Amino acid sequence: MEKMWAGRFEQALDKRADDFNSSIHFDCKMYKQDITGSMKHAAMLALQGIISDDDCDKITAGLQSILDDLNSGDLAFDMEAEDIHMFVESELTKRIGDVGKRLHTARSRNDQVAVDIRLFLRDETNEIIALIRELLAAILTQAKAHKTSILPGYTHLQRAQPITFAHHLLAYAMMFTRDIGRLEDALRRMNYSPLGSCALSGTTYNTDREFVAKELGFDGITLNSIDGVSDRDFCVELMSAYSTIMMHLSRFSEEIILWSSWEFKFVELSDSYTTGSSIMPQKKNPDMAELVRGKTGRVYGNLFTMLTVLKGIPLAYNKDMQEDKECIFDSIDTLKQCLSVFAPMIETMTVLTDNMYSAAQKGFINATDLADYLTKKGMPFRSAYKIVGQIVAFCINNNLVLETMSLEDYNKYSDLFCEDLYNEISLETCVAKRISAGGTGIDSVEKQIEYVSTFID
Ligand code: ARG
Repeated sequence: MEKMWAGRFEQALDKRADDFNSSIHFDCKMYKQDITGSMKHAAMLALQGIISDDDCDKITAGLQSILDDLNSGDLAFDMEAEDIHMFVESELTKRIGDVGKRLHTARSRNDQVAVDIRLFLRDETNEIIALIRELLAAILTQAKAHKTSILPGYTHLQRAQPITFAHHLLAYAMMFTRDIGRLEDALRRMNYSPLGSCALSGTTYNTDREFVAKELGFDGITLNSIDGVSDRDFCVELMSAYSTIMMHLSRFSEEIILWSSWEFKFVELSDSYTTGSSIMPQKKNPDMAELVRGKTGRVYGNLFTMLTVLKGIPLAYNKDMQEDKECIFDSIDTLKQCLSVFAPMIETMTVLTDNMYSAAQKGFINATDLADYLTKKGMPFRSAYKIVGQIVAFCINNNLVLETMSLEDYNKYSDLFCEDLYNEISLETCVAKRISAGGTGIDSVEKQIEYVSTFID
């Protein structure tokens, strides 16, 4: 196929070079955005008297028919085309003749691709935000059902203090609410139209960039044409936000995997989100969570691809920038897949509250509360801490827990211990008395639920 830029060349492009150069097999993903951008560009050209209304109508109808045919599958992408922009333009000219050749007036592929990718990323990121909201809804369903289910909270993966399962889950919800914020921030910063920057320096035509920007839902136009065509900061920002989301999903996955093990058995994932083994008949493996954890690596890697591609590029457009797409497309596909299995996996998991509770009964996770008991009776906290340490050692040596040690034994350590200590160190009291703002007590958990609820619907 003859290249649109063939004019100044005497020899055809080598087949291998042509394949190497071509981006249609991945930038075809942006066909809707490319066609929409072209329609608005044509409308602007007509409004400004750069092309006739009649030509604009033909171009618009032609583009619409291409869009319809691509949507329905009646038209396939021509993999011989150099990229999506060339494909659409040559298809347009095939359909409406020479009028199609007027579309590329006062425009370059450099600003065209810059606008396409912004539009595409805006659409995809909004879908990602919607998926995060679904995940938040799933977390909330579980949190609401487990406001009083007690389990050990961990530090260093050692049993530390009793918490409720709702409180634990809501910690993840907080991460995902921040993720939405990060994505929205990035969207706000990138929502300016580069179209009309042309190749790099603007154009001699009397264009109306503001009109096109508004029509395409941008908040305004980019102010420097060189920056307009060469900026990919928004890709870096989004990919960094995508990586952070994956990091959150990966941490959550790690816990799901631990909780599903026989060693913990805090949750049982639904059959629909687990797999079996080809040899061990008893196995029920948390593959979805493991895959999410594993796929985090490629999303991080894609961020580094993008940063590295950009680091040595002089202004303005350079072909290196074509490498912006595959990595960010892969991150988007990966993230969307992960979020779409993660939400129902959380929603459908069975929480084994009895196992959580019995884990909480071991490990002296109410030791802080016993020290606080003495402190509230006047003993300095450091002294109380030391005594409780000795009591824990005594219990371990005598196969006791704090709840089963006799008052007589307690009084060997301090006269401040009375019968009421047993109530004070019950797991329920420990949790209920954590009334500090943001703590695991019920009022705080209710407040958190209310806050997270504002992020869904
Ligand atoms: N396929 C190209 C890309 O993705 C489009 C822009 C090409 N511009 C150019 N001057 N060759 O970057």
